[in-house]
Amino acid sequence: MKTIITTVLSGLMLLAGWAQAAPAFKPFQAYTRPAMSLNGEWKVIVDPYENGFYNYRYEPFDQMEEPPRSAYFMDAKAKHGGDLIEYNFDEAQTLMVPGDWNTQKEKLYYYEGSIWYRQMFNAPKMEEGQRSFIYFGAANYRADVYLNGEKLGQHIGGFTPFHFEVTGKLKPQDNSLVVKVDNEREKDGVPTLNTDWWNYGGLTRSVRLIVTPKVFVRDYKVELESHETGEISAYALVDGAGAGQEVRLTLPQLGIDETAKTDAEGVARFQTKTVGTQFWSPQSPRMYQLTLRTGNDRLDDEVGLRTIETRGKQVLLNGKPIFLRGISLHEEYAANGGGRVTSAEQARHQLKWASDLGVNFVRLAHYPHNEHIVRLADQLGLMLWSEIPVYWTINWESEATYQNAQAQLEEMINRDKNRASVIIWSLANETPVSEARNQFLSRLASHARELDDSRLLTAAMEKHYSEEDPELAIVEDPLAELMDIVSFNQYIGWYDGRHEKADRVRWRIPYDKPVFISEFGAGAKQGMQGDANTLWTEAYQAELYRKTLAMLEKIDGFVGTSPWILADFRSPRRPLPGIQDDFNRKGLMTETGTRKAAFQVLKNYYREKAQEPRELEKPPETQ
Ligand code: GCU
Repeated sequence: MKTIITTVLSGLMLLAGWAQAAPAFKPFQAYTRPAMSLNGEWKVIVDPYENGFYNYRYEPFDQMEEPPRSAYFMDAKAKHGGDLIEYNFDEAQTLMVPGDWNTQKEKLYYYEGSIWYRQMFNAPKMEEGQRSFIYFGAANYRADVYLNGEKLGQHIGGFTPFHFEVTGKLKPQDNSLVVKVDNEREKDGVPTLNTDWWNYGGLTRSVRLIVTPKVFVRDYKVELESHETGEISAYALVDGAGAGQEVRLTLPQLGIDETAKTDAEGVARFQTKTVGTQFWSPQSPRMYQLTLRTGNDRLDDEVGLRTIETRGKQVLLNGKPIFLRGISLHEEYAANGGGRVTSAEQARHQLKWASDLGVNFVRLAHYPHNEHIVRLADQLGLMLWSEIPVYWTINWESEATYQNAQAQLEEMINRDKNRASVIIWSLANETPVSEARNQFLSRLASHARELDDSRLLTAAMEKHYSEEDPELAIVEDPLAELMDIVSFNQYIGWYDGRHEKADRVRWRIPYDKPVFISEFGAGAKQGMQGDANTLWTEAYQAELYRKTLAMLEKIDGFVGTSPWILADFRSPRRPLPGIQDDFNRKGLMTETGTRKAAFQVLKNYYREKAQEPRELEKPPETQ
């Protein structure tokens, strides 16, 4: 329960200039709150030289006492024939929000830099004392936000939500909301300069105006402490009230109706018990209505109740051992020529494709995906792995990079901490072992456990070979000591030899922990026929799957895998003409959903795995 204290404390420490990067945005459970959508066509100005942000001396306008009207966030218009204003949002081109800009305009396909977005809106009718917030689902990568010419703030990180309070800043009519979105990659960024996914820029998720009472439930967490006792603990963070504010928690279908008072930090805590709960699981993804009331505020939501833990080399869901029949997924829906997923409907498509494989688990790679897909997974009974983009070789030495990663971790956990589907937080992907990296990730690991100790922690690590024995693969990484699950990526048969090598490789993974293979795979151009030894053919990919799955079955503690990847996806690192054409072709289906032969190989394997009985292993001392 000390999580809230640490969250606020870390905010204060950061304010005290402890680090250069912006602190995490405060949690705000907003998905189910009624809101005014600001989605749709936004006027845009493409600004590669950031001419609307800096003067010719490269001094930022928004740091000036009186920013000139030439600053684009002033949204100025020439008043008369002699008034020099060299931009005009009213006459500007448009882009759809939510959406990336790269797949909306041919000219912006490769564009990396700044684009100014402007939306005009009238304020909703509001009662005395009500408060208002502008909430962004995400913007890639750096967003500077202005309302009616006034800076509201900045957010860094392309995949987590942020919001600004605009109470008292709204005009009844013609509010001008201007956002400078910059997806320029940075060495010290998170992610850093190189990734194997397209650097989609823009207001990639919904923008909403949320109105609340003066005192409202800003955040909450509910947790099934034990599937044996039915013990439930919860807290609600009330904004706008000090100590002594009454909060009522109800889960009517469970007969839970509790009240508690806030402490000095506005937190009300609940401890209660439930009997006859249907615990959330893939077989029965039971969701329960939940309502939090305080003053004249009401927050409605839905939650599944389940426990997830490890015991020895097993992963237990509600106390029962499970096997994670997974697949990896990027947040891209290119079936209609698009890029980033922009709707619940597209997310549903992705999960339908995955479900057709017979999965019960999806690895959301390599960054937090939209909230639609996480909530759909709750309803569909799909377990999830959610990850922050600490990807490959970021700047482990930089405190600002660390604070940036920590902020993204906090924002990811705060958004999805009530989602039963999310069972694993992943801190990183394929990061090189070094003292600086170990320190960086162990700091992140303890912060993650402080924020949420009810889920499993992991990171996608790597293997190496024994010097003496070139076919003895080893996963040995100091980070594994800190993780609940030993996860690693391996590409035997693609970047490492050819598929028959999988017949010979043996494994040494010296941890009494569950072992999960977070990536394996091979590229295949759909429709490319040929023998199983020819790269890029469907036959080669299918054969690699057969041999790899057989190899993994021999690994002690093997609890599951999420092969790379469900569908082909865009990557600037994949130019091979006629085969890749800017797409990573390791999908089991094309980006438009056409299956490749390997799809059926994995589907058959998962059908068998789903039938396989799983016994709970006796804890070591009773053996
Ligand atoms: C890596 C990486 C992925 C990448 C994949 C590939 O392991 O984690 O992001 O796309 O390999 O090379 O296809």
